[in-house]
Amino acid sequence: MNLFYLLMITCVLQIIAIYEIVLANEIQDSLGNLTTVHYQPEQVHLSFGEQPHDIIVTWSTVDDPGDSLVAYGENEEYTRLARGSRQRFTDGGSEHKSQYIHRVTLNNLKPSAKYIYNCGSSLGWSAKFAFRTVPEGSGWAPHVAIFGDMGNENAQSLTRLQQESQRGRYDAIVHVGDFAYDMNSDNGRVGDEFMRQIETIAAYTPYMVCPGNHEERYNFSHYRNRFSMPNDWENLFYSYNLGPIHFIGISTEVYYFLNYGMKSLIFQYNWLENDLKQATKQENRAKQPWIIVYGHRPMYCSNTDNDDCTHSETLTRVGWPFLHAFGLEDLFYNYGVDVEIWAHEHTYERLWPIYNYTVMNGSQAEPYRNPMAPVHIITGSAGCKEGRDNFVHNASYWSAFRSQDYGYTRLRAYNATHLHFEQVSDDQHGAIIDEFWLIKDKLDTYLSL
Ligand SMILES: [Fe+2]
Repeated sequence: MNLFYLLMITCVLQIIAIYEIVLANEIQDSLGNLTTVHYQPEQVHLSFGEQPHDIIVTWSTVDDPGDSLVAYGENEEYTRLARGSRQRFTDGGSEHKSQYIHRVTLNNLKPSAKYIYNCGSSLGWSAKFAFRTVPEGSGWAPHVAIFGDMGNENAQSLTRLQQESQRGRYDAIVHVGDFAYDMNSDNGRVGDEFMRQIETIAAYTPYMVCPGNHEERYNFSHYRNRFSMPNDWENLFYSYNLGPIHFIGISTEVYYFLNYGMKSLIFQYNWLENDLKQATKQENRAKQPWIIVYGHRPMYCSNTDNDDCTHSETLTRVGWPFLHAFGLEDLFYNYGVDVEIWAHEHTYERLWPIYNYTVMNGSQAEPYRNPMAPVHIITGSAGCKEGRDNFVHNASYWSAFRSQDYGYTRLRAYNATHLHFEQVSDDQHGAIIDEFWLIKDKLDTYLSL
């Protein structure tokens, strides 16, 4: 009897063991066959199109939903539908991770109007977002937040910028290069996470950009693919008008990564000269008397890191070594550019009006009233994992104010004669640590004074 029961128990145990193995294999099989799809729009961001009443909506999906649509309208109603296109973008890393970048342009929007929108396709729509279009013409006062060098980690200014954007404070955001640190890192996941982080800013306010050295991998492919600036030269250089300002975004990187060839540098220089020619025509400058250029690497700086701006023959300033071709300082000076905004140094620095190492203040009492040369500002302290940079102990004669605080710059273009800049310190809970008025009594340029 005992032997019989023992055999029975052994058989039952064996049957249970076999059943468990079969079950485990079935679970494994079913897991192996599981697939996920990702048609849900994410990383939504806006930018100005060819004119500020054209808004480009850009977003990302992992899989191709077969369509790129934006439903939008005024008065909280989705009365219109716009269709765009999408491109597959594959990261250059070992995983070859790919995603679809969707772009839809909303053309000829009404000035000073609030629009709601969502983006997607029949396979998935985003949440509802909203934006306000800018007023018509040049007789209004744009308010712009400007900074560079904001990463995924230690993006210290991000929270304040998110709050201010959500409260409708700005007409535009300008990020002067160096994103995410880096967008290509971890097979592009760092870039994805960064673009998700800025969505509460960029899905509500046009987020205008230019490339920095941190975008260099795979020939700037993350930068070229993820953004949509108003030009067909892959976002490297472009211009647009905002109220009384003619903004020009450029790539300083074409001077430093010559391994990708000279074409971009030469194209940009020729395009810039032509754009400045147009912008300084009397009828155009009467509408946009302020010309503001932004690019990543400064011509001057008083930092200790041995970057090119710590040397006197900065490539962007004087052009190619020995030949001195394609230098930007002469070009900007000759066309009367008013302000040049840079980043790259993880600090804030305001310069006296300067040309070729000569300070050219308007007067001793009012240096920024009718200055005789462009004013340079370096604002690369938004916050990133590389931390802050240091300054040389004694500031140069051309340096007017310096700070190592994390923060960003606000620009308000009050009218044709008055620009106001202020520097927000995030370390000091939003305190304004520097501010100045740039005034020109003549609507033209310092060259005609
Ligand atoms: Fe940089």
